[in-house]
Amino acid sequence: MLILTVFVWSQGMSAQTAEASRYNIIPKPARIETAKGTFIFSPKTVARYLIADEKNVQSALTLLEEITGIPMKLASKEQSPDANTISFAPTTDERLGDEGYMLEVTPEEITIQAGKPAGWFYAVQTLLQLLPAEVYSKKEKSPWRNHWEFPCVSIVDTPRFRWRGMHLDVSRHFFPVNDIYTYLDMLAMHKLNVFHWHLTDDQGWRIEIKKYPRLTEIGAWRVDRENQHWNSREPQRAGEKATYGGYYTQEEIKRVVKYAADHNITIVPEIEMPAHTTAALAAYPQFSCTGGPFTVPPGGVWPITDIYCAGNDSTFYFLQDVLAEVMELFPGQFIHVGGDEADKKEWKACPKCRARIKQEGLKDETELQSYFIKRIERFITSHGRRLIGWDEILEGGLAPEATVMSWRGEAGGIAAARQNHDVVMTPGSHCYFDYYQGLPDMEPLAIGGYTPLSKVYSYEPVPESLSAEEARHVLGAQANLWTEYNPVFEHAQYMTLPRMAAMAEVLWSPKERRVWDDFSRRVELQLMRYEEAGYNYSKSAYSVSVTVMPDTISKRVTVSMGTEMTTPVIRYTLDGTEPKNSSQRYEQPFTIDKTCVIRAGAFVERNLRGNIGERKVLFHKAILADVKLTYPFERYGTNRTLTDGLRGTLSFNDGNWQGYHQNDVEAVIDLGKSTTISSITTTFLQNTASWIFFPVSVEYSVGNDISTFVAAGSQDIPVAGKDEATSIKEIQQDTINMTGRFLRIRAKNVGVCPEWHPGRGEKAWLFIDEIVVE
Ligand code: ACM
Ligand code: ZN
Repeated sequence: MLILTVFVWSQGMSAQTAEASRYNIIPKPARIETAKGTFIFSPKTVARYLIADEKNVQSALTLLEEITGIPMKLASKEQSPDANTISFAPTTDERLGDEGYMLEVTPEEITIQAGKPAGWFYAVQTLLQLLPAEVYSKKEKSPWRNHWEFPCVSIVDTPRFRWRGMHLDVSRHFFPVNDIYTYLDMLAMHKLNVFHWHLTDDQGWRIEIKKYPRLTEIGAWRVDRENQHWNSREPQRAGEKATYGGYYTQEEIKRVVKYAADHNITIVPEIEMPAHTTAALAAYPQFSCTGGPFTVPPGGVWPITDIYCAGNDSTFYFLQDVLAEVMELFPGQFIHVGGDEADKKEWKACPKCRARIKQEGLKDETELQSYFIKRIERFITSHGRRLIGWDEILEGGLAPEATVMSWRGEAGGIAAARQNHDVVMTPGSHCYFDYYQGLPDMEPLAIGGYTPLSKVYSYEPVPESLSAEEARHVLGAQANLWTEYNPVFEHAQYMTLPRMAAMAEVLWSPKERRVWDDFSRRVELQLMRYEEAGYNYSKSAYSVSVTVMPDTISKRVTVSMGTEMTTPVIRYTLDGTEPKNSSQRYEQPFTIDKTCVIRAGAFVERNLRGNIGERKVLFHKAILADVKLTYPFERYGTNRTLTDGLRGTLSFNDGNWQGYHQNDVEAVIDLGKSTTISSITTTFLQNTASWIFFPVSVEYSVGNDISTFVAAGSQDIPVAGKDEATSIKEIQQDTINMTGRFLRIRAKNVGVCPEWHPGRGEKAWLFIDEIVVE
């Protein structure tokens, strides 16, 4: 007779003991009590089903078999097996909800209780995390590896939120269907249950629609400009072949949907409307306001003016046909219709749209968007489904049943919840995984922003301002991966792992169980699991940031160091060499008073992790000297920037550059006393994609008083051509030992962006940093 333990819904201190290091479960279970001893899982282990329909546990069991490499013998209900049993037992305990489970490991038996298939599945996901990371390896398990030790434990676990989502944009870059399976595996191991599949956008239509074959014949392909920056890609030229892209066939999608369901994941397909739709209009221009023609843009477009005509009934018939096929393929409750970032310029000019506004008694184009979404919603609800859209669908009035996905902060979500609508939170600040996860100068190119692991972890999906009643409308949250800067799937993995782990814990674990230090320790093992599974992941949370603070009084510089992760040991060098396990250990901030190249790395168990932080501090004759500027700079730096001893990096917003918007630079430096000067070197940044150009000329002069200067030399710099990489230039002038107290630098701004540039004729930027005087 099987005796099921009665679990207690209270948490003792036991999980915090040293024993706890064997329990690296992410997301952290709602309740966990650790115990002494182990259960040996081996070919002798017998599975018992105490439930009527063993099919319910089949996917859980298959997973266990695949991963451990141990086939399971089956014992019938009637048999009374010996020790070493894994039992699947049903429960009607309502506290477990749709996805909860209970798991007890004792030396004799593993007992899993659940009420629904998702519970069995998640119990096995948790079991796997009780084993060493190698259990995640896709390699054939070695024959001698025929037993696994589970530490004893009691777990009662249910998710906090029902919508635990990850989004993937497959329009800006297309990922083959096998990558989608891998993405679903990644979601499942984090107990995430919604995959928001962003299937259409301006730069590509990725889903086969039988009734409109041109959507993929034309809309899935664009000209290949992959070797250029996303925001400076020239549109398709006449006669040029569109060769870059791809799409998913309906047969592929059916298999993906089935695979997702087997992993307790619901797919929410997104078909964008009324804007973000150039790829569709390239195929069917008759559904636009202007009639086209359109080509699929190979890169960034802003503002988003291409739009479906809201005055033309055939647009709606087209979209309904598309959605009918989409609903046939995707059985989930929610259909996402986009709704974001539509510029209504075309609607203002279109006679059909104007007639629609009049005939429907609408106030303006904002209400026309609301009409559009409401009309589509009627179609979706008539098929028994629910519409979800980005928070712009609030504008002009929300469709009666719509669910709102709040991305421009939380305001849209709060407003919708107050109108008794369901919401999913995904504010850019914490949930956009296309943002940098480490300091930009140590990271591959990303869209901008800064959302490190700890910031994701700090996210709280229920805004404080909501009442308990309103808060019930928050279904959960999700993270989004837009892929403008993600050309290959491995990079999508890098951007999502391990931030996905942080988001999973935000969405699954009880709020009060979320503790950064504890997560930071557990995530170390999670990274080893990614490694074993062959996933590309980021170690940015281990990257060392080196902060230097100049002190104008002592003329010294204070250096401090840190990592996001709390556990590693930081070691550093001051001579530019690579930090090793034997290098100086960082304990507390220290000061320096000579030129050094500081390099620092994080070490976990003697191994270097993450990126090495690097800072060059330059001590020179003008260090911390006063600087007077004739024309103001506009952004980023401070008044100290030019003489603070620090050099700017390739990242224009690293705080070390002064940005001048069309202004020239004229700076006069006061060295405090008459000084012999042998060379002057100034640094400039060029990043044409961000409209930043080198100066066209730089001129130096030296004087004994502030009004009389003697020329020390000048240099001209050619204006950048197309496709020049972002770079830093040092303009050095040797001065044959001139003497003076004052030094003047003039750097001439290119003024406006050159002819070849997308911003031609518009104000250009000049970025300047440290003026080094020797
Ligand atoms: C969005 O990021 N445009 C929803
Ligand atoms: Zn129109």
